[in-house]
Amino acid sequence: MPDKKTFDRDSISNTLFISIGLSLICSIFVASAAVVLKPVQLKNAEEYRQRIILEVAGLMRADADIAELFASIEASNVEIASGESIEIYVEKDGGTVQQIILPISGPGLWSTMRGYLAVAPDGNTVKGIRFFEHAETPGLGDQIDKEDWRSLWVGKHIYGESNSPRIEVVRGFVLQDGSNPNAAHQIDGLSGATLTGNGVTKLVQHWMGPEGFGPYLETIR
Ligand SMILES: Cc1cc2nc3c(=O)[nH]c(=O)nc-3n(C[C@H](O)[C@H](O)[C@H](O)COP(=O)(O)O)c2cc1C
Repeated sequence: MPDKKTFDRDSISNTLFISIGLSLICSIFVASAAVVLKPVQLKNAEEYRQRIILEVAGLMRADADIAELFASIEASNVEIASGESIEIYVEKDGGTVQQIILPISGPGLWSTMRGYLAVAPDGNTVKGIRFFEHAETPGLGDQIDKEDWRSLWVGKHIYGESNSPRIEVVRGFVLQDGSNPNAAHQIDGLSGATLTGNGVTKLVQHWMGPEGFGPYLETIR
């Protein structure tokens, strides 16, 4: 009489069956989690963007409801030279413009850097700058988002006599002894991260120039 066939758990087919089955179950869990969490991720990303806009405008308070505070800023659209319509934000106080918050973006050394530049109602003076997305190196390029460096931008002038942007990140320190006619347009360089600093100069000059918000700001000045 032949032996009764027993279940061989170490056989190749059973090992394959269990491992493929387990992988399928796990992938269903991961995919479901990704789908379920997507709206939460999008909501958090939007809340983070709104927080950055409020911070660059100096309006953020620790205990504030971000959505409520953000609703006090007026969104508006500006058509740039390419025909693209871009959303900007205007802070008003009783109908008087306090500042304009403009999106800026461009290449750094490793990544596309995205942020906002807040401009005073004169259409020329910087009120603040913040980057909310970049992948520059921690300790080097990521100095662009450190308060010490960001504060150097406040009060700088984007334009001189003409409508071409003159604001720039220099290499080293800005000469402040009165002999430097460009000091009002210059910001200290980032030590060990000149390339990221050059990227910031290029992107700010681009967005404040004729292809970006230059014509819009010209109407304000
Ligand atoms: C691993 C590594 C990461 C770097 N990351 C950056 C960076 O994020 N931004 C940057 O401008 N330079 C970065 N650098 C340095 C640049 O290659 C370059 O040396 C530097 O921008 C020159 O600036 P400096 O003249 O102020 O030293 C990095 C270098 C290395 C080796």
